[in-house]
Amino acid sequence: ARITLRQLLDHAAEHEYGLPAFNINNMEQGLAIMEAADAVDSPVIIQASRGARNYANDIILTRLIDGLVELYPHIPVCMHQDHGNGPATCATAIQYGFTSVMMDGSLMEDAKTPASYEYNVDVTRRVVEMAHACGVSVEGELGVLGSLETGMGEAEDGHGFEGKLSHDELLTDPDQAVDFVQATGVDALAIAMGTSHGAYKFTRKPDGDVLAMNVIEEIHRRLPNTHLVMHGSSSVPQDLQDIINAYGGEMPQTWGVPVEEIQRGIKHGVRKINVDTDNRMAITGAIRKLLIEKPQEFDPRAYLKPAKEAMKKVCQARFTEFGSAGHA
Ligand code: G3H
Ligand code: 13P
Ligand code: NA
Ligand code: ZN
Repeated sequence: ARITLRQLLDHAAEHEYGLPAFNINNMEQGLAIMEAADAVDSPVIIQASRGARNYANDIILTRLIDGLVELYPHIPVCMHQDHGNGPATCATAIQYGFTSVMMDGSLMEDAKTPASYEYNVDVTRRVVEMAHACGVSVEGELGVLGSLETGMGEAEDGHGFEGKLSHDELLTDPDQAVDFVQATGVDALAIAMGTSHGAYKFTRKPDGDVLAMNVIEEIHRRLPNTHLVMHGSSSVPQDLQDIINAYGGEMPQTWGVPVEEIQRGIKHGVRKINVDTDNRMAITGAIRKLLIEKPQEFDPRAYLKPAKEAMKKVCQARFTEFGSAGHA
């Protein structure tokens, strides 16, 4: 059945676990998430970015989610808008049956330019008013995601902004977080502490200089009842890098967010952990392997089925590692 983000995260807080939020773009990813959740009895957060909604089409995506929910009636499913860039995106998500929206007011509506604190508060508060009137939850974001190693905000994905940001701009300010939650009424707060989207987060295994988990602890001390969200939280496992590169891929060596750091966050109020890149890599590795090993193959099901299985494995691991397994 469908459930709001608020309901899921309240339960997660009560029982001290975290929930992975996996991105969806197509049927195979939807089935992978639900099969994994079913295997370990976990509740589910499925999220769609604006890009995903454009790729899959809102009508198709909505029917796909309906199908997944109907197929697994015993699993609570939150359908979440990832990185909504303005009230219009959030409003249409609600019209299509999403039970949760992210209003990412850390950036302007172009999703490139860092926004002022005043803009962020104002736009987030307006979305909270609209969404709550519809029984829909809201995630806000305070602080700009980006690398503490380079000062670049999201540049590795090619859809980031160019200018360098200061160390402080890349970390959520705990005092401001208290004010933001109070002023907006968000159900969950995404914070910036050194992670970035995509595969190229860190040039070495991250330590406290580049992955500021202490910021999470400080914010949780001030806001013990606020559900915290970690973006850019793929672990970029070595075995997935290796399989891609073993079968013709060219991914330079990179490091993601170690699972044990996320587990530390979960002890300090982190309840939603966004994971997309790991699933993309699992899918790509499986497809590369199949097509190299069976070059005569041309039925898409021959490579999409192992792709789905590879993503299912990642999802199942995260449900277990973050502690949501057994809580459906
Ligand atoms: O926010 C990043 C997620 O990985 C979604 O990425 O905007 O390319 O769909 P996307
Ligand atoms: P990754 O790129 O680390 O998987 O992060 C995904 C994310 O934060 C989606 O909002
Ligand atoms: Na989100
Ligand atoms: Zn994100």
